[in-house]
Amino acid sequence: MDTRLAIASKRDQRRYAKRPVDGVVVERILDAGRVTGSSRNTQKWEFVLVADKAALAEAVYAPENVATAGLVIAIVGEAASFDVGRCAQNMFLAAWDQGVVSCPNGVKDADLAAAICGGEVKAVLSFGWPVRELHVEDRSVEEWSAQANRKSLDELVRRV
Ligand SMILES: Cc1cc2nc3c(=O)[nH]c(=O)nc-3n(C[C@H](O)[C@H](O)[C@H](O)COP(=O)(O)O)c2cc1C
Repeated sequence: MDTRLAIASKRDQRRYAKRPVDGVVVERILDAGRVTGSSRNTQKWEFVLVADKAALAEAVYAPENVATAGLVIAIVGEAASFDVGRCAQNMFLAAWDQGVVSCPNGVKDADLAAAICGGEVKAVLSFGWPVRELHVEDRSVEEWSAQANRKSLDELVRRV
């Protein structure tokens, strides 16, 4: 998928088909995290594949996002939030490129998440095959951008 198209079309999805995300699809998502830049290239993260999704679901604000996901990855460690965000978005876009949808999850019980994942949890990412086919390439970058539920550049950009 074209990079601009991937960026413009990527929406967070919280409903997933009952089908695991596995094999090379997972390897590509993880590798997109691995190659992400970080402050001074410190890479202070581990990518934890969570098998007990029901347990981790209790630690996030929207449990169904995690409980029903086909794949759950926790970014664990001491990485700065900016680095974690870059890493998560790279994984999301690598997933989107392969037709896999995803959503970030706010953590409400950090202690429980840490106990399950074996370290400080900086992000919980849920992934899954979409319930309905995506048809991303049916629209142009400009169409995806125009229909995104986002502020306009007029509101966001200042010149100093
Ligand atoms: C740090 C962070 C935490 C989030 N936590 C949750 C969450 O707990 N539950 C949820 O359903 N969505 C969560 N989201 C997803 C946001 O709701 C979503 O990015 C936003 O609504 C835009 O969605 P869209 O890309 O589909 O338009 C989170 C997003 C971020 C960046």
